[in-house]
Amino acid sequence: MNKLIKAFAYTALGVAFATTAYAGENKALVINEEITIPTHAAAYEGSPLDELISGWEFRKAETQALQMDDFDNPAFIFIDKAKDEFAKVDGSEGKSCASCHEDVESFKGLRTELPRWNEAKGKMYAMENYINDCRTERMGADAWKWSKSKMTSMTALISLQSRGLPMAVKTDGPAAAAYEMGKALYYKRVGQLDMACSNCHEDNYGVMIRADNLSQGQTNGFPTYRLKNSKINSTHARFKGCMKNIRAEPYGQGSDEFTALELYVASRGNGLAVESPAVRN
Ligand code: HEC
Ligand code: HEC
Repeated sequence: MNKLIKAFAYTALGVAFATTAYAGENKALVINEEITIPTHAAAYEGSPLDELISGWEFRKAETQALQMDDFDNPAFIFIDKAKDEFAKVDGSEGKSCASCHEDVESFKGLRTELPRWNEAKGKMYAMENYINDCRTERMGADAWKWSKSKMTSMTALISLQSRGLPMAVKTDGPAAAAYEMGKALYYKRVGQLDMACSNCHEDNYGVMIRADNLSQGQTNGFPTYRLKNSKINSTHARFKGCMKNIRAEPYGQGSDEFTALELYVASRGNGLAVESPAVRN
């Protein structure tokens, strides 16, 4: 089916697509007038996409502009809070993150590899899992909720250290099972609208759906500040929102399903530069 015929078919399901070019008007993502971040990457061998394109490309100029200056990017208010939190003693062991991780810059590159297989735990680990292990097992502190402000602010601060580096998650070896599970979920039609992630983000990117310009659904900008809810959003919260939009029952945040999906979606963006914290509507 070509795009237009498909768009017509979905209109019958109550989802209106209209063809359009990308809305973005800024030509290049240059942050603070000094850091140039490539928003396109060549598709790797076997990619279902012709070219990898960051979600930034699909946003309106004013939304794009907010990500082009760290003073204008509202995520940085939360990042400042996370810097304080990093140095703050919490829990029964009298430790802060900084007691063991001297400098947050030591996490440079970590964002590009997650989620990944954790051999000691025998499961896939997202950044949130590592942080909560440190809190509960090393600090004697409470775990943070997956998508609450303390966690998303901290994942934004840690992810920022990898800004500009290409995503490079591993999909083979012990991660292969999760990769396959995530891929199956990506192409599985669910919900009252009987749609798969791929129907929107692979078949119809660059097309308008309601008032929104569909992107490839890449995760290189996560965690992401959204104007819609004025906070930093985790990848799993975004997946939840997309599943609710097609009236499907979302998996739990932090579940094996969403972590597998996070791995698979991240792998579709392998080669795209990390933009965290991105700004989206
Ligand atoms: C008592 C020492 C200690 C404290 C306190 C601590 N960590 Fe850790 N953290 C570790 C160790 C040790 C590892 C490595 C674990 C491993 O490799 O499995 C680690 C791993 C991590 C990782 C994964 C890094 C990687 O390269 O795999 C992250 C992210 C992290 N910690 C964040 C935090 C944050 C955020 C805090 C504060 C909320 C914190 N840690 C507090 C000792 C600590
Ligand atoms: C009915 C169409 C539709 C379906 C199906 C859908 N999404 Fe989305 N998704 C959207 C829209 C609209 C947006 C906001 C605009 C954009 O970035 O594409 C979005 C945004 C996203 C983003 C954020 C991209 C960015 O750059 O900030 C991710 C990630 C994402 N979706 C993943 C998924 C996953 C995974 C699934 C399957 C569980 C899915 N979506 C299913 C419509 C859909």
